[in-house]
Amino acid sequence: MKYAIRTLIVIAVLIIGFILFLESGIYNISAMVPHNKLTLWVISTLKNNSIEHRSKDIKVPNNLNDSTLVKIGFSHYNEMCVGCHGAPGIPSNEIGKGLYPHPPNLAHSAKEMPASELFWITKNGIKMTGMPAFGKTHSDDNIWAIVAFMEKLPTMTKEQYSALQKANKNKVDEMTN
Ligand code: HEC
Repeated sequence: MKYAIRTLIVIAVLIIGFILFLESGIYNISAMVPHNKLTLWVISTLKNNSIEHRSKDIKVPNNLNDSTLVKIGFSHYNEMCVGCHGAPGIPSNEIGKGLYPHPPNLAHSAKEMPASELFWITKNGIKMTGMPAFGKTHSDDNIWAIVAFMEKLPTMTKEQYSALQKANKNKVDEMTN
């Protein structure tokens, strides 16, 4: 009985201490200052397990190598992602540079992550990071096209990226003239 009461007191002190810490404003929420190691560990464990768990049953289409699909994906990427994530030969813009966590280089992500995870993240976004959910505005087909493009990023040179930009611009010019 005595032991149970002591345990309850310790838990109550911890809860009150945690609330006082939250209320105090001691934690620096500035995006200029990195999180401490404990916060980083909590956030990355929560994020990695959530993404893995929620994307494990997603069926990956078998046409991700299709060149038309890759081109559709490129035009979305070039419009919506390059500002934050950059591309071969293109650094991220002022918004991307100021974000914390910093938007990663997606060539590395595409090498390390299965297509199902790239799809889930692009569709759902990631809370409290600046990574938007594109599922609110884009169909699954278009998101798979973006994934198809991301899978090409690890081997893409800056010359190839700028050639795609030129081809895309010519197509848009043709359509608007
Ligand atoms: C406003 C900035 C912003 C835009 C625009 C943006 N992202 Fe992100 N993205 C982020 C940030 C910040 C992260 C890092 C989140 C984290 O560390 O948890 C991220 C993470 C990701 C990841 C996970 C990568 C990894 O290695 O963990 C993928 C995949 C991704 N973004 C794809 C995209 C795609 C595809 C687009 C365009 C359709 C896009 N993002 C547009 C900010 C952005």
